[in-house]
Amino acid sequence: MNSMSKPENQILVIFGASGDLTYRKLVPSLYDLYNQDMLADRFIILGVSRTDFSVEKFRDRLGEGIKSFANFRDIEESKLDSFLKKIFYKSIDTENPNDYLQLKTEIDLLRERFNISDNCIYYLSTPPNLYSVIPLAVGKAGMNKSTGDGWKRIVVEKPFGYDIESAKELNKNLLKFFNEDQIYRIDHYLGKETVQNVFVTRFANGIFEPLWNRNYVHHVEVTGVENIGVENRGGYYDSSGALRDMLQNHLLQLTGLIAMEPPSSFDSDSIRNEIVKVFQSLRPLKEEDIIKNVIRGQYVASKIKGEKIIGYREEKGVSTGSRTETYVALKLFIDNWRWGGVPFYIRTGKRLPTSVTEVVIHFKPTPHYLFSRNNLQDGCNHLVIRIQPDEGILLKFGMKVPGSGFNVQNVNMDFHYSDLQNSYLPSAYERLLHDCMMGDSSLYQRGDAVEAAWKFVNPILRAWKNNPEIPIFGYPAGTWGPEHADDLIEGEGLLWRYPCKNLANDGLYCEL
Ligand code: BG6
Repeated sequence: MNSMSKPENQILVIFGASGDLTYRKLVPSLYDLYNQDMLADRFIILGVSRTDFSVEKFRDRLGEGIKSFANFRDIEESKLDSFLKKIFYKSIDTENPNDYLQLKTEIDLLRERFNISDNCIYYLSTPPNLYSVIPLAVGKAGMNKSTGDGWKRIVVEKPFGYDIESAKELNKNLLKFFNEDQIYRIDHYLGKETVQNVFVTRFANGIFEPLWNRNYVHHVEVTGVENIGVENRGGYYDSSGALRDMLQNHLLQLTGLIAMEPPSSFDSDSIRNEIVKVFQSLRPLKEEDIIKNVIRGQYVASKIKGEKIIGYREEKGVSTGSRTETYVALKLFIDNWRWGGVPFYIRTGKRLPTSVTEVVIHFKPTPHYLFSRNNLQDGCNHLVIRIQPDEGILLKFGMKVPGSGFNVQNVNMDFHYSDLQNSYLPSAYERLLHDCMMGDSSLYQRGDAVEAAWKFVNPILRAWKNNPEIPIFGYPAGTWGPEHADDLIEGEGLLWRYPCKNLANDGLYCEL
């Protein structure tokens, strides 16, 4: 820890504190920060929700969450106890504006008791229908303004809007009571250490930048897939789908970091200005592009290692005739000087064979082959940025096969974070919570970027809604999604790094 990482004294008010996010992510991450002495010396967490917990019961529950989900597993009871003493609880009806006066009184009492200045973060970890209701009530109760006595910040969880219109509306409502620099729109992917390493790989090394453009890059793959299904979130997921749940936010953000221009400095505005420019340069998709270049799928029942896996439509909370996509793959272009003509292939899905998030930069082959190669795919150099799991970077290049002749084979230069001695990979929430406490919004989304990302995705949502004949393909749980996605990648011998075909599943991908 260095003194730069110690935030000012403050109170963190978590709305929706009885929910899963607080239990599994927020409080365990706060505990991890505490363990590294990265919380303010005078720091209080005030949980707020409708449920009627006593403070003791609330602390006990969160203590269990810490034991199960904190990064630091070697938990000393005395340390845990002293951390839990920083936690308080207030039950209010978040939809009742009058209850906010009680909340204000509670915050003032805690401030006085623990000698904390008027610095306050409001964290919205509630269902999204409250994202406009709470800021309005907080504003009306006069709890929103940064003053000489302290600052106020508000963190808004995803999903930030349901489409472009609702995202704009939400921005408008937030901006009635908070300034843009008080608003922290979270996308937890930006908090991942390996996502931030994209900045360093690109901008701390002289060797990549000259190659990082249309002259040398053939195409880019961005994959973020999971082997889990919708788990107990069927109700939410069925009204969301893979496009809204993963692609509009996490995967586009990742694409933004890969494609952005070097910022003039490493401050929040310079970084976010460059990311928004990428989103504004996304070539708008026309209806005919959507039919051809966006593939959607939904998992159907199958057996994985002998175990029967139910299909999406059998999941709890999902309607039996649902046409919600659990898989989406698309091809997009970024119309600017750096990327003109370079296709970006993006895909995400649930119930695939494994969970992996990675970016693959496929460099163009040499202009003329001097040596024989096993196949064309081998002719390309790839840089694989592995976001998770097995975080690291892999560069593939050709080497001579020892012996007579000049046969070439692809080999790997492979860096794994796990090889770093004593390296601690903080969780995404640890990083983001700490940044917000420090007032650094670089890794949070700005309002214009969220709207620009929705603007790109909106025509797809509209086309799917208005043209039910656009196919949605079933794919058996445990496969790499519908084989039709392979056809998106054009070029002889070119495939996804993990292709859908060749898995003895031919003929299984029927239209639903
Ligand atoms: C969330 C999505 O935002 O990200 C989930 O709502 C998804 O559906 C999750 O499972 C993936 O996050 P991670 O960090 O596990 O890759």
